[in-house]
Amino acid sequence: MLLKDRVAIVTGGAKGIGRGIALKFAAEGCHVVINALHIEGARKVAGEVEALGRRSLAIAADVSKSTEVSTMVDQTIERFGKIDILVNNAGGISLARGGAIDNTTEDDWDRIIDINLKGQFLCCRAVVPYMKKQKYGKIVNVSSMGAVHPPAPIIHYHSAKGGVLSLTSNLAFELARFNITVNCLLPGPVRSEFFNEMFQGAPDKEKEDFFERLGKRVPMQRMGTPEDIAGVALFLASDLSSYVTGESICVGGGLPLTPD
Ligand SMILES: NC(=O)c1ccc[n+]([C@@H]2O[C@H](COP(=O)([O-])OP(=O)(O)OC[C@H]3O[C@@H](n4cnc5c(N)ncnc54)[C@H](O)[C@@H]3O)[C@@H](O)[C@H]2O)c1
Repeated sequence: MLLKDRVAIVTGGAKGIGRGIALKFAAEGCHVVINALHIEGARKVAGEVEALGRRSLAIAADVSKSTEVSTMVDQTIERFGKIDILVNNAGGISLARGGAIDNTTEDDWDRIIDINLKGQFLCCRAVVPYMKKQKYGKIVNVSSMGAVHPPAPIIHYHSAKGGVLSLTSNLAFELARFNITVNCLLPGPVRSEFFNEMFQGAPDKEKEDFFERLGKRVPMQRMGTPEDIAGVALFLASDLSSYVTGESICVGGGLPLTPD
């Protein structure tokens, strides 16, 4: 097992990519703290982790709020005594006004940057003292291929995900001497509830057609799955990547290559 007796926090772990990562880690022997905005979803995935024979803890916390992040880390230490791995996966998008600069309000900008970038900073800041003390840590940040190859203009979200790339290289440089690696993965399109906001009230067929079109734009001719992303997260969270830090890995089925 690649993560035997390790302890991980997976933010946004109640569904989609975060759930996929949590279950992959648990299958490799890791005890996993499942963070989410709402406790019910976190509890459900914590139950799935326990069903795999590992320990788990569900914690509701908004990663963009420093007091809630501190409490999450305190609770993790109280229960497990250490934190080996942090996966900064929580994130989200808002398309209520589209993503073009003319329509983006200051409030939209602040909220999306807070969730997708500040949240990662706050979680790193809270776990790093424990990782430094044990001279071991693996931080995996989730960015997006949209940060470097935007499929459409979504200025706040893509800027936040671009910031995650810089946060990763800065922190990797700062923490390398403590045997803490900090790496980043950039998913391409992955089928999850991430896209739900776009289809509120729309018939299922509309959503299915959208996913099919999106898949066809990928050289591998399909959308990604949470498991596709979880495999790379496992590599970055395990000692298979013991000498890899400051890297950003695209997980996009061949994107940005075009199939033609
Ligand atoms: N699905 C895609 O196509 C895609 C592509 C590139 C990057 N990503 C990124 O992957 C990550 C996971 O996305 P997903 O597709 O699983 O989406 P998802 O909507 O299924 O899951 C996102 C999770 O993050 C949680 N979350 C959101 N804001 C939070 C906050 N402030 N505090 C705590 N938790 C919060 C949600 O509750 C949810 O559990 C996100 O960072 C997203 O930006 C997704």
